[in-house]
Amino acid sequence: MHIHSFLPAAALATVVSAVATPRILDNTVPAKLNKFQYIGMNEAGPEFGEKVFPGKKGKDYAWPNNTAIAHFIDKGMNTFRLNFLMERLIPDKMTGSFNAEYLKDMEDSVNFVTGKGAYAMLNPHNYGRYYQKIIENPEDFKAWWTSVAKKFKDNPKVLWDTNNEYHDMPQPLVVKLNQAAIDGIRSTGATQLIHVEGNSWTGAWSWKKSGNADTMGALKDPLNKLVYHMHQYLDTDGSGTKAECVSSTIGQERLVEATQWLKANKKVGFLGEFGAGDNAQCKTAVAGMLKYMQANSDVWSGWNWWSAGPWWGPYIYSMEPKDGKAYKGYIDLLMTYT
Ligand SMILES: *[C@@H]1O[C@H](CO)[C@@H](O)[C@H](O)[C@H]1NC(C)=O
Repeated sequence: MHIHSFLPAAALATVVSAVATPRILDNTVPAKLNKFQYIGMNEAGPEFGEKVFPGKKGKDYAWPNNTAIAHFIDKGMNTFRLNFLMERLIPDKMTGSFNAEYLKDMEDSVNFVTGKGAYAMLNPHNYGRYYQKIIENPEDFKAWWTSVAKKFKDNPKVLWDTNNEYHDMPQPLVVKLNQAAIDGIRSTGATQLIHVEGNSWTGAWSWKKSGNADTMGALKDPLNKLVYHMHQYLDTDGSGTKAECVSSTIGQERLVEATQWLKANKKVGFLGEFGAGDNAQCKTAVAGMLKYMQANSDVWSGWNWWSAGPWWGPYIYSMEPKDGKAYKGYIDLLMTYT
């Protein structure tokens, strides 16, 4: 039972009553979640050195640490957002072919996660840009996604995320790029969930004023399996760069508008990035936010903390076990909101 010892009493009771004898989890079966379907970590590293192309493994970038991922799975997490760069995977042009080494490493990373029964979310950490230029041609983007989806379409534990944090782009282009990704992915026969992201760094607090609320609902998926993937930080400017949070209630407050939009439009949301410093005010704010999401789990499908990964060093939100600056303060707290 030690694996469940971090779960709240209510969740523990559910697990225990659901089966005759306490369930012993092995490494291939993530814990059963309570309210959410997808919880876990961002895994950063393959997108590091993001201005160095192609970049050298071990010098400019690093793949996630499987031991750390296994540790999170043992804790009960089941979803890992793998950050990588579009240009490193398909370097010459979006319609071009794969870099074999980067693809192989990515496949190994994905296979490790999904081999343990967890979900691997493929996240091109590109902000709607390719070689730092705004992607203007949806057809190119569609071609890129078609190539990538062909490689991973047969793995039911893969989740697609069209791109990380579009920003400072024409709103219609953001919608068109998301649609092109959906069309490319579905053209391969892939049936997994597709996460779509909005403009303005896909912020939940700005979902309305960014223009996302008025335009993103029009995205069409023949399988109707879209997830509205939003990010939310709790510091003054919402940038996720400070250890301090605005107040102990700011987490919930910043999600209210987006939650209302999801409900009114019958959409499913996911909080794909959030993070905060290890201090009492932030912890209360994070707990309040996750509790609010639980109370609205009809529209919130889960969360991914920002961030784990092997190269964070002393970064304030690092969850890399067990020396990451946020690890000790947050791991048990997070795992009470499953
Ligand atoms: C991988 O994670 C394990 C467990 O946290 C740690 O002992 C090891 O040093 C890590 N390796 C790298 C290369 O970061």
